[in-house]
This record gives sequence, structure tokens and C-alpha cells, in this order.
Amino acid sequence: MKVCIVGQGGREHAYASVLSRVADVVVTPGNPGIPASTRTPPIEIDADLFVIGPEGPLADGLADRLRADGRLVFGPGADGAALESSKAWMKEVVSAAGVPTAGFRVFDSDPGSCRDAHACLEALAPPYVVKTSGLAAGKGVLVTDNLAAAHADVDAKLDGSAFGPAGQRIVIEEGLVGPEVSLFAICDGRRAVLLPTAVRDHKRLGDGDTGPNTGGMGCVSPLGDVDRAVCRELAALSFSPTLDELVRRGVDYRGVLYAGFMLTPDGPRLLEYNVRFGDPEAQVTLPRIDSDLAALLWGAAAGEVRDEIVVSDDAMVCVVCASEGYPSAPRTGDLIAGIEAASALDGVTVFCAGVAAASDSEATPGSLVTAGGRVLNVCGRGPNAAVAHARAYEAVQRISWPGMTFRTDIAAPEARAAAAST
Ligand code: AMP
Ligand code: GLY
Repeated sequence: MKVCIVGQGGREHAYASVLSRVADVVVTPGNPGIPASTRTPPIEIDADLFVIGPEGPLADGLADRLRADGRLVFGPGADGAALESSKAWMKEVVSAAGVPTAGFRVFDSDPGSCRDAHACLEALAPPYVVKTSGLAAGKGVLVTDNLAAAHADVDAKLDGSAFGPAGQRIVIEEGLVGPEVSLFAICDGRRAVLLPTAVRDHKRLGDGDTGPNTGGMGCVSPLGDVDRAVCRELAALSFSPTLDELVRRGVDYRGVLYAGFMLTPDGPRLLEYNVRFGDPEAQVTLPRIDSDLAALLWGAAAGEVRDEIVVSDDAMVCVVCASEGYPSAPRTGDLIAGIEAASALDGVTVFCAGVAAASDSEATPGSLVTAGGRVLNVCGRGPNAAVAHARAYEAVQRISWPGMTFRTDIAAPEARAAAAST
């Protein structure tokens, strides 16, 4: 089977590395750190299956265009992708489906609605939660105890200065507290089949969950506090009713459905749906799928997903190495050292995200330079989180470039708990 993966980050590198065990793989546009990358646009590529990684092309209707051309595609059309590209619609769908979710109201930029948004905030208790309805690269959500900051954020979003049109419709939500957990299901248009393993990511830039929100600074899977039975309960609460509701609305959803939950004292609440694998969540999940991934995704794309997906009990930890200045103004063009030395370690895989080929004539052929905010995803795998954590951080020590930053506490609680129980 020939599989064409669309995208250019660490998630697509993980897809490529797992799929290439069982299929011929091409990645477009890919990056110089992903083998078999090509600049040929997807529509010009001949493949048995197209797998679309990021939300942007999905929201933009790439899956629809490929399907209209007779191709088999794993990834929802623009209608289904609106679960992520319109939080307002997502909240409406999940409310209609009876999925437990935070209370919410939707506002837009006309003056009356804007006044109502401010009045709504006044009536709420902290934490205040203000979200762009549209796509904002994981940065469109403000959660704050500071009411004045929430009011200012409402204005900056609705007047378009913060996120352009994506922010001119907002969702204000009831503020919840509790640990978070992410789950994934593979959907074939009618059914959602759970990947029975939970992932926890760290969205804040700094240790101890401080600093600005990012696309994700690292993650771990599985989780000691969310075992397979809990995963199944959460899936029954969310994925199945949502797929039924989508079917009722005439949406043929084929692809990954990613659910982000908060486990509150009043029970689990769905915070978000994404319409693709998380990045870096995919990097700790895809390599642990023991089922044939190409056959699995092909089946879902064709409308017949298999009943059960087998995932290894091994643990994986991913540490994101980022450029200085990320997320506001990442510095680029720095020569990256140590990828080979890190990858040579037992149980370690390095996935490439924001990298470019070094153009400097003095650089060794094949060298890479930084070309974005999140540059490398350094992953350790082992029989438990303690081993996976130790391997990931040992590998990070072998990698360097000027200004490289990373969190030192990814998966620290999970590693401590695993060490204590062995
Ligand atoms: P989202 O993109 O909607 O998942 O939001 C990003 C992050 O904001 C989540 O991972 C949570 O940490 C936080 N968040 C979102 N919604 C809420 C909420 N209703 N209450 C508290 N925190 C939230
Ligand atoms: N890591 C969060 C996301 O991919 O949305």
C-alpha cells in the first residue's frame, strides 16, 4: 500500500515512521528531517490512502477536494472539521448529543453582543475562560482569575486585534478545575473506536505549568490515574453520542477524533474536540499501536473501522525542544547538534518538527537548522513511565543548539509514581 501523509511537523514524522513499517510512505510537504518528504502537492500524488495530519488543511476542505477526485482519505471534510474550527458549533453539537461539557455562551463582534459578553463575565466566578471560536494554533484560550484581564481579552478578541477573524466570535465558558486527559478515537463515519490509552500534555511553556500557552511542550502516555476502564467510560460518554449526533446532521466523519477532558469533582467534562491527532500527543501514541496502522486507517477511510485497536502497555514520554523566544518570536537558523547521538540510545526516537536543511557550506551535508518554534520531539520508551522519562531526558542532554529550551518536568509525577510502584 502507498500512503501519502499531509503535513510537516513531528506528528507527521511519527505517522511516517510507524506507517513505513507496513507501507510505502510519502510525506508532503514534510521537512528535511522526515525521510520521503516531497514538495509535490497532495492532489498530484498517486497513493492508496491519504492521511491528513494538521487541522488547517482539514478545516480548509482538503479532504473534500481529494475525495471529490476519487481518493481514499483519512481525515474529516470541512463540515466535520468544524468541531475544531468552530468552538461555537462544537459546543452546540456536544450539548445536543448530551455530552457533559462546561456551561457556555457564544458572543460576536456586534456592539450589543460585545456588551452581553462583558455582562456574562461579571456574572461568573473565577476562573474566567474566554476562547476564540476559530482556529488559533492552540493559543486562543485565556483562563484567568483576573476579571480585568478577562474583560480586556474579550475586547482584544472581538475587535480582531488579538486573533483576526478567528477571535471575532468567542465562547465564554464556566471555569472548571481538575486534572486533564486526552483520548483518541478512530472514526469511520458511523462508529468511533477508542485507542485505549490516555495521554497528558503540558501546554504551558515553563516548568510547573507557568508562562504562556503553547502548542504543547511535552506529554506522557499511558497514565496511572486513567486506566483502560476509565478510558472506556470517557469514550462512552463522548465519542459514541457525538458520532451519532454527527450522523443525524449528515456529517460523514472519517478520521481521528481527539477529546480533551477535565476530571472535575462533579465528574468528567469535555473541554474540546480536535479533528486530528495532537502534536506531540501522536508521538507517544502512534508508535505504541500494535495493530497494523495502515490497515486500520485505510479501513476507517473506507467506512469499516476494525472493532478493537491493540495498544502496547509500554510507556512513552515526549520532551519538546523549542527555539529561544517560542511561542511569541522563535529565533531560527541555529545549527542543531546531537540528533544522531540521541537516536542511538536504547528506546529513544527523535521526531523532527521545525527544522530546515542547513545552507551553510561549512555544515556537514544533511545537517539541520532550527526553522520554527517547536523544533524536535525527543521521545523515550520503556516498560513504565520512570524508564521512558529517564530515556527521554538522557537523549535531550545529547542535543543542543544556541538558545534551545525545554521543560524539565515533563512526566515527572508519572515517573515518580512508576518508580515508587516497582
Ligand atoms: P481548549 O483548547 O478548549 O482545550 O483549551 C485549552 C486549555 O484551556 C485546556 O487544556 C484547559 O487547560 C483550559 N480550559 C479550557 N476550557 C476550560 C474551562 N472551561 N475551565 C477551565 N480551564 C479550561
Ligand atoms: N498538543 C495539543 C494539540 O495538538 O492540540
